[in-house]
Amino acid sequence: MSLWRPFRPENIADPYTMYREIRQKQPVYTTATGEVLFTKYDHVKSLLQNPELQSGIRKDWLINNGNELEKNGIDVYATFKSLRCFMLFSNGIHHQLLRKLVSKSLKPKQLNLSIEQRALELMKNIEPGSNIIEAYCQVLPFEAALSLLGITLKEAHYLRSFVLDFSRILELYLSMNDLVKVEKAATVLLDFFNSKIIELRKTPDQSLISNVIQECDIDNSLNDDEVASLFLSILMAATETTANFLGSSILTLLKHRKEFNQVSKNSDLLPLATEEVLRFEPPAQLTVRKSMTDFTIDGHSIHKGQTLILCIGAANRDPEYFRDPEKFDLERSPNLHLSFSSGLHRCLGDWLGRLEASYTIKSFLKTFGQKKLNYNAEWNALTTVRSLKSLTLS
Ligand code: HEM
Repeated sequence: MSLWRPFRPENIADPYTMYREIRQKQPVYTTATGEVLFTKYDHVKSLLQNPELQSGIRKDWLINNGNELEKNGIDVYATFKSLRCFMLFSNGIHHQLLRKLVSKSLKPKQLNLSIEQRALELMKNIEPGSNIIEAYCQVLPFEAALSLLGITLKEAHYLRSFVLDFSRILELYLSMNDLVKVEKAATVLLDFFNSKIIELRKTPDQSLISNVIQECDIDNSLNDDEVASLFLSILMAATETTANFLGSSILTLLKHRKEFNQVSKNSDLLPLATEEVLRFEPPAQLTVRKSMTDFTIDGHSIHKGQTLILCIGAANRDPEYFRDPEKFDLERSPNLHLSFSSGLHRCLGDWLGRLEASYTIKSFLKTFGQKKLNYNAEWNALTTVRSLKSLTLS
C-alpha cells in the first residue's frame, strides 16, 4: 500500500502522522506517480542547497503539454506568459538577474501601510461565525504586498481573489478545473500589470515597480511582458504563503491554550511563538526540484530527469534534528526550520511574513485574549501549501 496519500481526509487534517511514517519506513520514497519524496531534515536541506537541481517543473510540464491541452479546449496562453519571469520557477543566470533586480527593493526601510494598525482594525471586525481566513488572513497580506509594490488598494482591490486562484499553479497535482482558474487569473493579473507598466512609464514614481521598469529600460534586460510576469510572481509569493501562515498562527494558538496564555502575558515570547508556528505548521509544506544529472544522496541513487519532492513539513519535525518535534514548544531555540527554504531560492520576504504574523498574534490576543473561545477549522485539500479554508470562532 502506498505510504504517500496526501488527499485522505485524515492526512488533509494532519499530514504529519503520514510524514512520520514515511520518514521512519522509507525516508527516500518513490511515489506511485514516480516522484522521489524526501522527508529527512538533512536530505531536504542539502537538496534545497544543491545548485545543480532545477526549479520550475510546472513550466516544463506546460511546455511539453501545452499543445495537447489546447487541443482539448484548455487554453494556457496567459498561464504560460505569466511564468516567463516567475522567479520561483526560474534557473541559472535568468534567475540571478530577476533576484538582483528586486531583492534590495523587497526590503524597504518602511511600508506605506501600518501593519500593526491594519491588523487591529481587521481583527476588531471579526464576529462569531465569520470566516477569519477570508475576513482577515487573506486581506492583510494582500494589502501589505500591494503596499510593498507601490500599488494602491483602490486600483487593485479586485485582484485579491485572482491572486489566490493563480496560486494553484504551485500545486503538485493540478486538475483541469484548476488550470482553467489559473488561466483566467493569469489573464486578469497580466492585464493589470501591463497597464500599470504603461502608466508608470508615462508618470514614473518611487515605487518598486517604477524603479524596476526604469532599470530595465536602461539595460533592456526585460520587456514589459516579462516585468509583468515578475511582479505577478512577487504579488502571489507575498500573499498566498503569508495568508496561510496567519491562519495557522491563530489556529495553533487556539489549540495550545497554555502557550496562548504565556504569550498573552509576555510579549517577549512573540518572536519565539512566530518561529515555532513556522516550524510546526510550515505554510509551504513542500517544494519541487528536478535532477539534471545522475547522483547519489546518502546511498540512494537519483536519476537524471527525476522529480524530487522536498518535504519541508516533514523535515521540520525530524526527531534527529528537533528535540520532541511533535511538541509546540515556545522554548525551542535555536529553531532552524526550513520554512523559508534555503539556497538559491530562499524566500525574499521572510521579514514581512514574520512581521505580519507577530502583529496578527498580538492583535488576536488583544481582541480575544480574555474571551472563552470555541473554534471550527477546515483545511483545503492541497499538498504544496498548508492552507485553511475556514476558521470560525463561537
Ligand atoms: C510566512 C510567509 C512566507 C513563507 C512561509 C514563504 C516561503 C517561501 C519559500 C519556502 C520559498 C522558496 C520555495 C523554494 O525553494 O522552492 C519562497 C520564495 C519566495 N518568496 Fe516567500 N514566503 C513567505 C512570504 C513572502 C513574502 C511576504 C514575500 C514578498 C515580499 C515573499 C517573496 C518570495 C519570493 C520573491 C520568492 C522567490 C525567491 C526565488 O525564487 O529566488 N515571500 N518563499
